[in-house]
Amino acid sequence: MYSGSEDTTLNILIMGGNGGIGRALVEDCLERYPHAQIVATWHRHKPVLACDNLQWYQVDVCSEQDIKQLAQQFQQLDLLINTVGLLHDEQHGPEKSIARFEASWLQRSMEVNVAPSLMLARYFQPLLKKSARSCFAVISARVGSIEDNRLGGWISYRSSKAALNMAMKTLSIEWQRAVPGCCVTVLHPGTTDTQLSQPFQRNVQEGQLFDPAKTAGLLLDVIAGLNPEDSGRFYAYDGSLIPW
Ligand SMILES: NC(=O)c1ccc[n+]([C@@H]2O[C@H](COP(=O)([O-])OP(=O)(O)OC[C@H]3O[C@@H](n4cnc5c(N)ncnc54)[C@H](OP(=O)(O)O)[C@@H]3O)[C@@H](O)[C@H]2O)c1
Repeated sequence: MYSGSEDTTLNILIMGGNGGIGRALVEDCLERYPHAQIVATWHRHKPVLACDNLQWYQVDVCSEQDIKQLAQQFQQLDLLINTVGLLHDEQHGPEKSIARFEASWLQRSMEVNVAPSLMLARYFQPLLKKSARSCFAVISARVGSIEDNRLGGWISYRSSKAALNMAMKTLSIEWQRAVPGCCVTVLHPGTTDTQLSQPFQRNVQEGQLFDPAKTAGLLLDVIAGLNPEDSGRFYAYDGSLIPW
């Protein structure tokens, strides 16, 4: 989709640019597309990374107003990656069994993991449409695949990622006509060493826990290979398709 030589006009937005995978994506984009204009967002922790072609905005993705104001900063957008996601907080972890289920945690998971990508689509649609070839990528998780679910557990996170997948599939169909130059894609990053996965890394097989820089490189390789005809698919970090 994008090669380094044509990056002078590229406008890139990375939501959650100060998270584990998000920050690595920002760093990789700065190297890969040195002439691109890169905007990244942070939430609670102000980033230290600075560069002439990198601009930071503080955004709560659950705030429609924040997303609307962010969209007003752009004339056009070629690549939007939403990395924001929630698996646990100080009080909650993923449920081992239904006995741990709390409706409020499911609601919070939906609020952070699903609605923001739809709100981004709403406000960035005209900006992605201005680009001849654009990409709207969201980071989901393999555990959101209904067909691939063999272990159970993590019911709120799984359900929210499955809902995200359905939301993006539905969007991709609408945008076949409304934004035909845009590839809407859902990505699984692989288990990556970030604060999100940190409490659950014990059972990860050797060699299967990726450094964020590795994940970012693989995901950007997948995105670079995508065209609008690939819209509405769920890809793993190695470019393989994941069943919905
Ligand atoms: N790491 C893995 O193994 C793995 C595996 C599969 C899928 N994923 C997915 O990959 C994505 C990135 O995860 P990660 O591992 O990089 O996790 P991370 O380091 O925890 O990053 C998540 C980011 O989301 C931000 N965020 C949370 N709520 C927000 C809000 N309301 N507004 C704006 N930003 C908000 C966090 O910012 P604050 O901390 O400042 O709130 C944080 O920077 C997530 O969607 C996750 O579900 C990760």
